Amino acid sequence: MSVVQQSLSSFISSSNSTFLSQNKLKFRVQNVSVPGKISRVTKCVSAPSAEKTGHATKVLRNENLAKLQAGYLFPEIARRRNAHKLKYPDAEVISLGIGDTTEPIPDVITSAMAKRAEALSTLEGYSGYGAEQGEQKLRAAIANTYYAGLGIEESDIFVSDGAKSDISRLQVLFGSKVTMAVQDPSYPAYVDSSVIMGQTGQFQKDVEKYGKIEYMKCVPENDFFPDLSGVARTDIIFFCSPNNPTGSTASREQLTKLVQFAKKNGSIIVYDSAYAMYIADDSPLSIFEIPGAREVAIEVSSFSKYAGFTGVRLGWTVIPKELLFSDGFPVAKDFNRIVCTAFNGASNIAQAGGLACLSPEGLQAMQETVGFYKENTKIIVETFQSLGFKVYGGKNAPYVWVHFPGRSSWDVFAEILEKTHVVTTPGSGFGPAGEGFVRVSSFGHRSNVLEACRRFKELYK
Ligand SMILES: Cc1ncc(COP(=O)(O)O)c(C=O)c1O
Repeated sequence: MSVVQQSLSSFISSSNSTFLSQNKLKFRVQNVSVPGKISRVTKCVSAPSAEKTGHATKVLRNENLAKLQAGYLFPEIARRRNAHKLKYPDAEVISLGIGDTTEPIPDVITSAMAKRAEALSTLEGYSGYGAEQGEQKLRAAIANTYYAGLGIEESDIFVSDGAKSDISRLQVLFGSKVTMAVQDPSYPAYVDSSVIMGQTGQFQKDVEKYGKIEYMKCVPENDFFPDLSGVARTDIIFFCSPNNPTGSTASREQLTKLVQFAKKNGSIIVYDSAYAMYIADDSPLSIFEIPGAREVAIEVSSFSKYAGFTGVRLGWTVIPKELLFSDGFPVAKDFNRIVCTAFNGASNIAQAGGLACLSPEGLQAMQETVGFYKENTKIIVETFQSLGFKVYGGKNAPYVWVHFPGRSSWDVFAEILEKTHVVTTPGSGFGPAGEGFVRVSSFGHRSNVLEACRRFKELYK
């Protein structure tokens, strides 16, 4: 028995606590005693969720959180990947699942962050809290780089610690009484944050949908753009292009229809352009390229997938002054209030990195990073096409949407993992219309992508 086990054991025998009973200790020790794998095992073998502690507070659980189904999609995939690693400890698992970047951040960007970090150690270079909305220089650079000529000013830009955080902050802004629509399938944060805010009904297992959310079906049959004539009016419309997970991009004509639809219904579009730099054709890079969009749309975006900032954390949200609530109050003013209350501004080091991203050298370096992932995408697309699969996306996005007609996405996910040790993402995790598809991410080292494709070819030849 190890020293830790001995002391735990003696603690338990001297304790009346129901929490740490002998049995539970046995359960834990048994599950972590795989030789040489202790830290991994502790990470992935969680205590049973129904485990009772000795003391419960009198605080009611937020009933909206109880509505959520299982875990957030990506932690669930990580859980399955870890379980797979336990089952096959010697397997070389390749992850093309969660859309996390893998390539180093270009030097021109990290050196600017390093310089700013070092300056913080000097009297002249130190800075504490910054403006909640972001540094003026960065707001101006974002406006000039991505929105030049579109009527967006630096004061319309709110710098954030990433698009995901701002999606939730926007939900706080809207409150619990609004109704919302999403593309089906879509990035899970829109639906989950809506559930948490209390905008939805319960999850309906038969249709795999939450009550009170309008799911806008996006499938090959409608070119991944919803038939708006069949979409009910909602207050908020979440729309992502290039889309995660399908990789599809809305054309100018389609976005014009969306803006007109929002205007007619008095709705607000929350447009997620986190992958805009992956666009290779003439699809709009921003919703604000569409006439009239400034009166009906908010745009969230991010440096995550352009510069490898998934860990650094930096994004932005654009709320034009023209966007008003029904009583005429500017939406941006209320969002400013939310940001000042719930957020103290993005890290100053990250903002220095953001500014470097938008320098001529930084933009060039980001294009190269994006270009690298797009070459990966091409390899994945060609692999599945050569195997006879129908493949969507990929052209303007780092995601490939592979069709397995008539099969369950989770079954295909499990089959690929079991037989090739490659992690993908089951399409149904993004919404019921994702059933029958698997998303393959192109975020990976080239050698891993090539090896994964070799294994796919072996499995499906
Ligand atoms: C569509 C979409 N929006 C937002 C995000 C989150 O971006 P960030 O890292 O800036 O929070 C992601 C991340 O995968 C995404 O796919």
